[in-house]
Amino acid sequence: MENEQRIGFTLNGERVRARVAARQHLGDLLRLEFGLTGVHLGCEHGVCGACTIRVDGRAVRACLMLAVQADGAAVETIEGLTESGEIADLQDAFHRRNALQCGYCTPGMLVTAAELLAETPRPSREAIREAVGGNYCRCTGYHAIVDAIAATAETRIAATAEARVAASVEPAEAGR
Ligand code: FES
Ligand code: FES
Repeated sequence: MENEQRIGFTLNGERVRARVAARQHLGDLLRLEFGLTGVHLGCEHGVCGACTIRVDGRAVRACLMLAVQADGAAVETIEGLTESGEIADLQDAFHRRNALQCGYCTPGMLVTAAELLAETPRPSREAIREAVGGNYCRCTGYHAIVDAIAATAETRIAATAEARVAASVEPAEAGR
């Protein structure tokens, strides 16, 4: 392969190596070499958001990043996030609220939503719309997506509050 380079990076928690062409983008590498077809490619110009993955903890367009730039990075795709269970509640909310139809936008949408909720635990509906505005969905009209993300935020906040109450009751009980 012309202008081929060797790279090594962490992919969904495992160390991997690859030989990549200098001009290959990360989305193609993940799909073609590693079979991670949850990395959807739409526009390949950074516009539609279908290819959104996580690199070093941040949501990134896989089509805008060269594969060689992943050298040494921690890359997570929807496959890894699904396997770890990290976004299981978000995925469940998308399912229950019909926030997907064809599903083409969904992996990228989930990565974007996960980042939003990590940074803003209770985003307004406007903030959710703003955050997912860079992820194109041709099917749902976005309403159900906003519902699913807002519902996940509320569920997480309620669970955190319950855990706090339980933690404050336990020491009191232990003192009896
Ligand atoms: S395929 Fe990457 S943003 Fe559209
Ligand atoms: S569910 Fe079809 S593009 Fe969003």
